[in-house]
Amino acid sequence: MVTKTSQRFHLRLILLVLTILSKSQTINLVGGFSIREATLDDLHLAFRQNQLTSRKLVEFYIREINRLNPILNAIIEVNPDALYLADKADKERKANFPGSLSKLHGIPILVKDLIGTKDKLNTTAGSFALLGSVVPRDAGVVSKLRNAGAIILGKASMTEWASLRSLNIPLGWSARGGQGKNPYLLSATPCGSSSGSAISVAANLVSVSLGTETDGSLLCPASYNSVVGIKPTVGLTSRAGVIPFSPRQDTIGPIGRTVSDAVSVLDAIVGLDYNDQATTRASKYIPPGGYKQFLKVDGLKGKRLGIVRDPFFTSGTGSLQSQAFENHFQTLREKGEILIDNLEIANIYEILNITASGEATAILAEFKLYLNQYLKKLVVSPVRSLADVIAFNQRYPDLELTEEYGQEVFLAAQATNGIGDMEKAAILNLERLSREGFEKLVTEKNLDALVSPGPDVSPVLAIGGFPGINVPAGYDDDGVPFGINFGGLKGSEPKLIEVAYSFEQATKVRKQPPTLQP
Ligand SMILES: *[C@@H]1O[C@H](CO)[C@@H](O)[C@H](O)[C@H]1NC(C)=O
Ligand SMILES: *[C@@H]1O[C@H](CO)[C@@H](O)[C@H](O)[C@H]1NC(C)=O
Repeated sequence: MVTKTSQRFHLRLILLVLTILSKSQTINLVGGFSIREATLDDLHLAFRQNQLTSRKLVEFYIREINRLNPILNAIIEVNPDALYLADKADKERKANFPGSLSKLHGIPILVKDLIGTKDKLNTTAGSFALLGSVVPRDAGVVSKLRNAGAIILGKASMTEWASLRSLNIPLGWSARGGQGKNPYLLSATPCGSSSGSAISVAANLVSVSLGTETDGSLLCPASYNSVVGIKPTVGLTSRAGVIPFSPRQDTIGPIGRTVSDAVSVLDAIVGLDYNDQATTRASKYIPPGGYKQFLKVDGLKGKRLGIVRDPFFTSGTGSLQSQAFENHFQTLREKGEILIDNLEIANIYEILNITASGEATAILAEFKLYLNQYLKKLVVSPVRSLADVIAFNQRYPDLELTEEYGQEVFLAAQATNGIGDMEKAAILNLERLSREGFEKLVTEKNLDALVSPGPDVSPVLAIGGFPGINVPAGYDDDGVPFGINFGGLKGSEPKLIEVAYSFEQATKVRKQPPTLQP
């Protein structure tokens, strides 16, 4: 049995070895070029002008991870092959390898610790129970990243089991990763469950990352860490090889410091994967030529944007946050957007209450069913079922803090027995709520997007399999970031990207986290 301390030690050892291999000099500035805050376009320009190599980029990130991860706990594992992969990318670029023109070629990316990689990295959802398990193949999105030439830099930390072990587990905490911290205010929550994916991009520990969302898990940490997060339509990106919670709602999406960077990753990861049938149904939404074409500065002109005040903009009138949103509405109007105010989503309070809507009922049963399938397909694994994971937590209470945090959601899931009458009724109710609520509103008012603060709208998007984009929108009195969300119906990514990009260009709210001393 590996102990927690030896785990952390191991991560440090890999970092130390990589640092020595990289003969580390300080390399924030490479030939006058600053890596910190650089966009993917900046990085590619620097590659082309011989101011930067992928090796230098990976070395910079390893140095920063060394310095800041002991504070932020954003990363669970660094890929021991990262420098080798960087050298390979540099050789390909030198040889004018056609693939080296791809936006992600030679770019380091982190993936959330539940996205399977068939390499030296573990895939554990933050839990010791899955340590040492071997996945049958790369997740669908990881193969697409590798095909695009990206370097898998490591595994981002997350709320252990995405809060499906216990609701007592603080957001961003996992047994393997420790407590993930918000780089803007260490005492504030980073939100979760894709906490490490958002923290690491915010703090310049990586260029871009992947997170996942079942209900709020990507949009919320993106909001709290002042980064752009895209939660794609369910099925637009493959879920194959990713630890599942609810295939009805699960989706994999990019996080970046700019809309453009997140869209570059989205372009690379969308599309068919024969191991996830939902990608067949959703592939009709992918526009020929991809999503980059929707990065238009005048993308707001004539767009119809809905505002649902109740319950999304009711609290804290006069607060910094509500003032910021009123200013943003004004900016949107000035950019030619048509704002349709005081709208209502039918049954919104039922939708936001995951017990009342049936969402919790459905997910508990789906989680047990699909997790068991995932665990059975692993090539090697210390656990083969949810029951095994529960037993593991009982066997290693010191490792998993089982007494302190419990595992009541696991136990509730374990008590389910497939999709029975109760679950079917719950799923039908969710479909009805979505049809009579958000879908009806968007169709009747002919909306291009719904605007809402931070992740508040996530259950609405979750139960319909709908997309949403978080863009930084401001900072509260304590300096904690908050985001603005643009959500739409299935396949509405092109419009959402237009709106999100032009909003970002008009406001440019994102700023770097305060300097952190190790
Ligand atoms: C994955 O976990 C094993 C323990 O089972 C450990 O030996 C290995 O170093 C881990 N991989 C990385 C990259 O940390
Ligand atoms: C959510 O709904 C349940 C009933 O389904 C109710 O018991 C509970 O009080 C509701 N929670 C809130 C916060 O309204």
